[in-house]
Amino acid sequence: ARLVVLVSGSGTNLQALLDACADPSYGARVVAVGADRDGIEGLVRADRAGVPTFVARVDDYTSREHWDRAIADKVGAFEPDLVVSAGFMKLLAPDFLARFLTLNTHPALCPAFPGMHGPRDALEHGVKVTGATLFVVDDGVDTGPIVAQVPVEVAEDDDVTSLHERIKTAERAMLVDSVGRIAREGIAVEGRRVRIGAGAR
Ligand code: GRF
Repeated sequence: ARLVVLVSGSGTNLQALLDACADPSYGARVVAVGADRDGIEGLVRADRAGVPTFVARVDDYTSREHWDRAIADKVGAFEPDLVVSAGFMKLLAPDFLARFLTLNTHPALCPAFPGMHGPRDALEHGVKVTGATLFVVDDGVDTGPIVAQVPVEVAEDDDVTSLHERIKTAERAMLVDSVGRIAREGIAVEGRRVRIGAGAR
């Protein structure tokens, strides 16, 4: 399966996918990495792995709609089977999502604590268990059909950073496992129910 990965930051999820894809039996390969900004570690990781990159900065387009079309065209040029939004900080337009099956990770157990501050909100709420969610992106914020989830216990002495780091470790393993299974076995999305396997796609 051909993967295009979109990043805006450190790209540790991207790195986990690049590492997994080094084994041909994994069944997927990162054919391109896209970003909405320059100078980020995610792009350096792609360069180091010899993967082509592209950047589409919203400010370089006359309107958000032009950017929406540009990012779709840039991604489409690589003919992906799957797009992975890995810490990508822009919402993708409905046309983009209709064209590309797009997965995203969220550092909380959806539908709890959507948005930019999953680990902080979980700590503030005082939950004892939080985690990470892999989901199919839809037009909401962290609302799409759930592909996989992994629980992470909140420690008494956790702060936002320590909790987020532990979530990210679990999140990367979940992402690598699920993307590999999807690449090898397919995925079917029926309403809110997601099934991996049975040659679904
Ligand atoms: C991850 O925690 C992801 O869930 C969130 O942003 C973080 C991205 O980290 N959306 P990285 O850029 O992959 O290191």
